[in-house]
Amino acid sequence: SDSIVTTEVVVIGSGPAGATAALLLSTLGIDTIMITKYRWTANTPRAHITNQRAMEVFRDLGIEPQVLADATEHGLVGDTVFCTSITGEEIGRIHTWGTRPDREADYRLASPCLTVDIPQTYLEPILVRNATQRGAHTRFSTEYLSHTQDADGVTVEVLDRLTGAQYSIRAKYLIGADGARSKVAADIGLPFEGAMDIAGSMNITFKADISRHVSHRPSVLYWVVQPGSNVGGIGAGLVRMIRPWNEWLIVWGYDIADEPPVVDEQAAIQIVRNLLGMPDLDVEITGTSLWGNNEMYASRLHLGRVFCAGDAVHRHPPSNGLGSNTSVQDAYNLAWKLAAVLRGQAAPALLDSYTDERAPVAERIVKRANRSSREFVEIFEALGVLDARTEADMAAAIEERKDNTPAGAAKRAALVRAMDLKNYEFNAHGVELGQFYASSAVLSDGSTRPAPTRDTDLYYEMSTVPGSHLPHAWVGDSSRRLALMDLAPYTRWTLFTGIAGEAWAQAGEKIAQELGVPLETVVIGPGREVTDLYYDWAKLREVEESGVLLVRPDKHIAWRAMTLPEDPEGRLRQALLSILGRD
Ligand code: FDA
Repeated sequence: SDSIVTTEVVVIGSGPAGATAALLLSTLGIDTIMITKYRWTANTPRAHITNQRAMEVFRDLGIEPQVLADATEHGLVGDTVFCTSITGEEIGRIHTWGTRPDREADYRLASPCLTVDIPQTYLEPILVRNATQRGAHTRFSTEYLSHTQDADGVTVEVLDRLTGAQYSIRAKYLIGADGARSKVAADIGLPFEGAMDIAGSMNITFKADISRHVSHRPSVLYWVVQPGSNVGGIGAGLVRMIRPWNEWLIVWGYDIADEPPVVDEQAAIQIVRNLLGMPDLDVEITGTSLWGNNEMYASRLHLGRVFCAGDAVHRHPPSNGLGSNTSVQDAYNLAWKLAAVLRGQAAPALLDSYTDERAPVAERIVKRANRSSREFVEIFEALGVLDARTEADMAAAIEERKDNTPAGAAKRAALVRAMDLKNYEFNAHGVELGQFYASSAVLSDGSTRPAPTRDTDLYYEMSTVPGSHLPHAWVGDSSRRLALMDLAPYTRWTLFTGIAGEAWAQAGEKIAQELGVPLETVVIGPGREVTDLYYDWAKLREVEESGVLLVRPDKHIAWRAMTLPEDPEGRLRQALLSILGRD
């Protein structure tokens, strides 16, 4: 290379992982260059379900209103339908993404945000725009070629695809957020479990106004049982809403062992008409693509100064809608740690906690998504259509569920069970929110996590045991209502205590100054910064009023004290030094 540019962090990729990382780093004032191979962001809608934890990240970053403005709102996402075609027989519905009234309560109690739908083509520009506005250098048409690292930094070789020129970027750290075919992950030899391309899928995007058939049962997903819909793919044929109700994406499977199918316009129109059950529909095909389903995760996410995030380290089907969400949350876990080390607030050892905390999440979501995709077979089995080869065979088998016969009754009972099982894909609140961290960046107070009282995939249970995510409660005063998380912004550490624990504020100020760490104390109680509006916090905090929670920038609880000790300053110093790897 002729020239070399320098920065603190270089991010490869502008997808949900990379763009979120660049946005977080620039928000923290870290000098960042984000490069991405293509001339713009994602060119197909791809991921869309955006869960509460990802929305909380956007809330924290101050971009929640921008995301909501481009999203399909919560109320329209959840009447998920199983059918023989959009105009055909309905096999059943399931309230999804926390829209069933009893589950909606769980979701609303757990977070100030609700699940919405925003296709990647809408989300990425918001992330990239804000990252760039806040100071990140964004370079499109720029390809990562290779890197070397030494004791002081990383040198990254990149290609400007417009001019053909190569140059080097010298950085302190490198984030490889370059997707499922990550070259960065391969270059640092990350160890992977599982396999790629275990099933084939095709995406067909099209425009057609089908409001008449769907707007009375509004959903993001309409699942179609037709001959061939359990071959390859993601469990069944899928008609997915991109924009209500005139832009759509079909996911249809194919056998990965066969030659890849040719999806020309004629073939695409035929598949659309079949799944919609509208043989004469006038449809505008806007795109087609083939993609492989993966079941693969990395057991280590970094090597030295190089960190991988997003699909680079977890690759799985879209089932459960975890891909983009988990990628956003990887970045949320990593960025503050890099900033803390770069600013001399933490020892580099803090960075090891990235793998310790996020690798178990990667494994969990990859396994859950694949299991959910496979569990569709229960519906095919319940209907008795697994062996049906022709449309007529399949229709007859599906028809049998109407019969007043023992076979009909058995089919109906089997359907109840099969539909119930899909809650593990569509209402898996525990998978979505229940991420608990065990690492050197969390200091135990000697307590153990309470045993779960309900299924840990379906239900999320709040706790303040160190490693847990900060529980949600509304606080405020007569003029405003805030989520607790709003008082613990990403730019700092936060101590939460009650009036009897006010002494923590002084200790916090002293330690913040002494250690050079941004740390503020929030006292919750009448006449203080905020009050416990609904008296919920008193029941959620698990510590005494004089106790304290030390909350990390990413809202996980780093440490807690049940009561005010004799020497709060000493205890806090000890805790922070240990968490920051400085002891
Ligand atoms: P992502 O793949 O989004 O981004 C990778 C980035 O790296 C891109 O910006 C790319 O340009 C860049 N890059 C790659 N190599 C580079 C290089 N050498 N140099 C520079 N830049 C480089 N999920 C879901 O939940 N529902 C869905 O329906 C779908 N559908 C879907 C369809 C298709 C076709 C794909 C490929 C994926 C999906 N997904 C999906 C998965 C979802 O899109 C995925 O989980 C997230 O995009 C992951 O975000 P990342 O930021 O990790 O990678």
